[in-house]
Amino acid sequence: MRIDVLTLFSDMFASPLDYSIVKRAKDRQLVNIVLSNIRDYASNSYKKVDDKPYGGGPGMVMMCQPVFDCLENVKKQDENPGRIILLTPGGRKFDQNLAKELANEKRVILISGHYEGFDERIRIGTNAEEVSIGDYVLSGGELAAMVIIDAIVRLLPGALGDEYSAANDSFSDGLLEYPHYTRPEVFRDMKVPDVLLSGNHKEIEKWRKQQALEKTKTQRPDLLS
Ligand code: ADE
Repeated sequence: MRIDVLTLFSDMFASPLDYSIVKRAKDRQLVNIVLSNIRDYASNSYKKVDDKPYGGGPGMVMMCQPVFDCLENVKKQDENPGRIILLTPGGRKFDQNLAKELANEKRVILISGHYEGFDERIRIGTNAEEVSIGDYVLSGGELAAMVIIDAIVRLLPGALGDEYSAANDSFSDGLLEYPHYTRPEVFRDMKVPDVLLSGNHKEIEKWRKQQALEKTKTQRPDLLS
């Protein structure tokens, strides 16, 4: 899979994408993450990428020209057209279902904005889908892009050590994940539930299902409705 990121701050991506599962997936060539700097495409001599909003108001708006030129160049780098996603707080809410959908694509192109937002013609002219990672406003789309990349990459076959880990993740079956325990059996008077030490796999399975349901009921009842 190829993931392109169009950003003003490509350096922000180096560290988060160089650890753990994402790093392993890159090393195994399950994913190719290509960062492109929007500023490199600014045609004006100051490399300006933002300007004041028409109609007045606070903040700066990302200009069309650098984003369109960057996207057009990036698109040409691979034959797959890919799903083009604009990261904005007003977009479709990102969730595990969308992560699964995107993990099945051959290519995803993420456009991260900064400042007050994008010139609306970027959305209209690129035909991009708008995606938000939650109902809060970030300083830019970079962190949102990293969240989405992480959630997608761990779903790619072979990315996780244990093929079953993703299947048991929270949300993968519409429920939160059951609680986990590891050694020691007792820590500060808190004991591992007996059933997990019983060796009875049927009972363990039953307990986990029931715990997942209980946890979802108390913490995220909205997932059950
Ligand atoms: N850019 C700013 N806030 C955002 C959010 N919540 N999700 C995606 N992109 C954003």
